Amino acid sequence: MALEVEVLTLFPPMVEGPLRESIPGRILDKGLATVRVHDLRAWGLGRHRTVDDYTYGGGAGMVLRPDVVAAALAELRRPDSTVILMDPAGRRFEQAVAHDLAERSHLVFLCPRYEGVDDRVRAMVDLELSIGDYVLTGGELAALVILDAVIRLLPGAIDEASTAEESFAAGLLEYPQYTRPAVFDGREVPRTLVSGHHEQVRKWRLKESLRRTLERRPDLLDGRSLTKEEGKLLAEVRMEQAAASAAEVADA
Ligand code: ADE
Repeated sequence: MALEVEVLTLFPPMVEGPLRESIPGRILDKGLATVRVHDLRAWGLGRHRTVDDYTYGGGAGMVLRPDVVAAALAELRRPDSTVILMDPAGRRFEQAVAHDLAERSHLVFLCPRYEGVDDRVRAMVDLELSIGDYVLTGGELAALVILDAVIRLLPGAIDEASTAEESFAAGLLEYPQYTRPAVFDGREVPRTLVSGHHEQVRKWRLKESLRRTLERRPDLLDGRSLTKEEGKLLAEVRMEQAAASAAEVADA
C-alpha cells in the first residue's frame, strides 16, 4: 500500500516544487507515495484567515494558533496517522527514523513559520522532529529533507542494492567510490578495486568504511557492536594509523 502524506504549510509552492523534480518526482509518479500539500490558511480564522498571533508575555514574532492547528488536524488525522511537528527543539532526525517512518501508512507534517507554535500544539502531535542544530525560517525545508529521506526507502523507489550499501545503512559511513579515469591528477584508483576479485573488493570496502567512520564519525562506532571480521579490520586500521603517526613523529 502506498504511503500517504499530508503537508500543512502556509507556503504550499515551497513544498510542491522540489517534490516534482528528479528522483522524488519519479517516486511520486510511480505512485509509491502520494503527497497532498495543504494551505494552513484554509483553517484560518475570520475574513483574513488568520493563523497566528502575538506571543503572550511579549517578544518578537508571531506564533501559530492552537485552534487553527486543531481544526486542520480534525480534518486530516486518521486512526493510522503519525502527525509530525517540525521544530528545532524536536528529536534529531536520522536514518533510523527515516526507516521507521517509511513503514507507516499516513504521515502528516506540520510546518510552522514565524516564531513557532503555541506550546499546546505539542499535545496534538505524535512526534517532534528537528533536522539539526540550526534554525530555519520555517518547517518546510525540514519536512522536505525528511520526506526525501523517507520516500527513497519505499520498496521499488530506487535500486535496493544502493540503499543497502550506503552510509548509515549498517551504522557506518560508506566506503570511498571511484570511476574513470583510472589515473586522475597523478592519483590512482586503489588496486584492489580494479582487480575484479569480488571477495577482496568486499573486504577492502568494509575496511575503508570502518576507517572512514573511525576518522570522521567515531561516535557511530561507540554505540555499535562489531562482527569478528569488522573487529579484526578495525584493529588493522588502528595499527596503520598508529604506524603512520609514529612515522610522522620520526620525520619531524
Ligand atoms: N524549523 C526551524 N528550524 C528547524 C529545524 N532545524 N528542524 C526542524 N524544523 C525546523
